[in-house]
Amino acid sequence: MKRRNFIKNTSLSTAGIISASLLSSCENEDKKTTAKQEEKETIKPIAVCTWNFENANSKAWEVLANDGNALDAVEQGAMAEEANIKNTTVGIGATPDRDGNVTLDACIMDKDSNCGAVVYLQNIVHPIAVARKVMEETPHIILAGKGAEQFAYEQGFKKTNLLTEKARKRWLEWKKTSKYETIINIENHDTIGMLAMDKHGDIAGACTTSGMGYKVGGRVGDSPIIGAGLYVDNEVGGATATGVGEEVIRTVGSFLIVELMRQGKSPQEACEEGVKRIMAKNKGRKDFQIGFLALNKKGETGGYCVHPGFTYRKATNVGHTNEQVDSFYKKKV
Ligand code: GLY
Repeated sequence: MKRRNFIKNTSLSTAGIISASLLSSCENEDKKTTAKQEEKETIKPIAVCTWNFENANSKAWEVLANDGNALDAVEQGAMAEEANIKNTTVGIGATPDRDGNVTLDACIMDKDSNCGAVVYLQNIVHPIAVARKVMEETPHIILAGKGAEQFAYEQGFKKTNLLTEKARKRWLEWKKTSKYETIINIENHDTIGMLAMDKHGDIAGACTTSGMGYKVGGRVGDSPIIGAGLYVDNEVGGATATGVGEEVIRTVGSFLIVELMRQGKSPQEACEEGVKRIMAKNKGRKDFQIGFLALNKKGETGGYCVHPGFTYRKATNVGHTNEQVDSFYKKKV
């Protein structure tokens, strides 16, 4: 082939390739747009939380039903329980540590992987809202103890005595027989973890707790630790944990669940695998409770829990159907 013809032929065929690939990329773009539209049409907002905290789920659902975003939904849902004086495991009315101090832990994470947390926070009813302020108003992720409390006051939160008379009486009773010894108390692990997906398909999560009942002063559990008590990756989904925080921290539990979903597991399969890994490391032990809850981008939920007393409770799932589902079901070990 003469050089001139070679150039001509090359140009022609290159032009052909370009237009063919342009065409196919236009078609792909069209297909992508249609797929995105279909995806949007099928997005069904959902809010789900550990255990049967109906106040939390109803509040979160109210936010989503009014076109609110997932972050507001999980924050407001968690706040509903923090303000519930009858709830002995979060916010006001919570069980104190062995010295009678109520110390709270919480964290929050949004669709862009922004996160904020508070640990060992005292005198503030809504640690989850302070965690959000840490996320939005500071360059940090975690504030602890007196610093977190001071920051909360600067942000306009008011000082409140969190130790109710009932909780104080229970603590005094505990002191009579406990020998000041912290034991794993399965009834004081009802951490609230919330996950929500909004009408844009974006996921956020929140987790708040008073931690282990009558814990050693200064103890912090999994709930305010991003990756342990809560993790959200908006490409994949979110997960949150409840139960003995030490066990969840050891396995970086919520991060594990999200990564298992990324590898193709359903939320249910991922939660089961997470609990089984913890149990495998604790062969023969039946004295603690662990549960995971997960939500993926399709709006599918899953939950799995092991409880030594075998008196399992269902979590409420107030989603687009506004019905309860057995997403957090019970299994013997
Ligand atoms: N999962 C709550 C705690 O252990 O503090």
